[in-house]
Amino acid sequence: MKRVSLTQYLVEEQRLNNTIPAELRLLIEVVARACKSISHAVGKGALGDVLGSADTENIQGEVQKKLDVISNEILLQANEWGGHLAAMASEEMESIHPIPNRYPMGEYLLLFDPLDGSSNIDVNVSIGTIFSVLKAPEGMGTPTEQDFLQAGARQVAAGYAVYGPQTMLVLTTGHGVHCFTLDREMGSWVLTERDMKIPQATKEFAINMSNQRHWHPPVQRYVSELLAGSTGARGKDFNMRWIASMVADVHRILNRGGVFMYPADVRDTSKPGKLRLMYEANPMAFIVEQAGGAATDGVRRIMDIEPTQLHQRVPVFLGSKEEVDLVSRYHQ
Ligand code: AHG
Ligand code: MN
Ligand code: MN
Repeated sequence: MKRVSLTQYLVEEQRLNNTIPAELRLLIEVVARACKSISHAVGKGALGDVLGSADTENIQGEVQKKLDVISNEILLQANEWGGHLAAMASEEMESIHPIPNRYPMGEYLLLFDPLDGSSNIDVNVSIGTIFSVLKAPEGMGTPTEQDFLQAGARQVAAGYAVYGPQTMLVLTTGHGVHCFTLDREMGSWVLTERDMKIPQATKEFAINMSNQRHWHPPVQRYVSELLAGSTGARGKDFNMRWIASMVADVHRILNRGGVFMYPADVRDTSKPGKLRLMYEANPMAFIVEQAGGAATDGVRRIMDIEPTQLHQRVPVFLGSKEEVDLVSRYHQ
């Protein structure tokens, strides 16, 4: 079988299909290279002294793990000097990170969740990296947070790497979703699945059930119908999976369908859900829609939300279209 590398795939997209400009191709290659480094660090575990807490807090008030900090550093360093970016933003940094003056400034903005699924790091369960790429606004001077506040529909690329039994990179530039597997010996990303499609119907759901008593009525109703199975309104049994790494849960859904939910609840109205719009929900929504699925906050399409803050949170319902449509209907 002829192997297609990520580089070849991107060059062909640029040259033959004209779907991506050269600068965006470079950007994606650099992010992919950074994910390779993160994968390497993740794989070392205790041998690389990368497990455990960094004893610092991020802007979300969460204690950072060593790997949160290491992965953030890897992504910043890899992307600073190439000339393809104007600025970066990260879950782990309160403010945006403009490209230092000593390097040329490009026309893209990169956002990332450097290490997703932090609670799984120390127990050797799949974790990942999520990224989103926006175009800097026309005529932008020195980049500010305001320049990042664009709806997800304006993303020009998004992807995630999942560090599991295999390391994979799942990518969209708005022309389908493609999956690359890391050949660890060769150090290269190899195209292993073109045009991933999420089945429209599913019998599998993902939600943190321990929050059940805090949910709003539409989510209570929807999940209780799933749980009632063949004896309830749905007339079929559902199975549940919850990995607690969004990357890993979404990757399963891309492969065999399912619905993933992280709803808002009644506890703290200043925190609508747990997940962050700009570097978790938006990139995943872009990927899921490109794979034929749907992504809403219960009421609106996630990618239509006009962001007001870099680190804002959003309720998330995504995956197989029939289920996302149903739970969204219950919200109306
Ligand atoms: P992060 O590690 O980047 O903070 O994200 C963790 C998120 C997401 O990946 C996952 O779906 C969810 O938190 C898990 O939440 P619970 O702790 O409620 O299971
Ligand atoms: Mn995350
Ligand atoms: Mn994270």
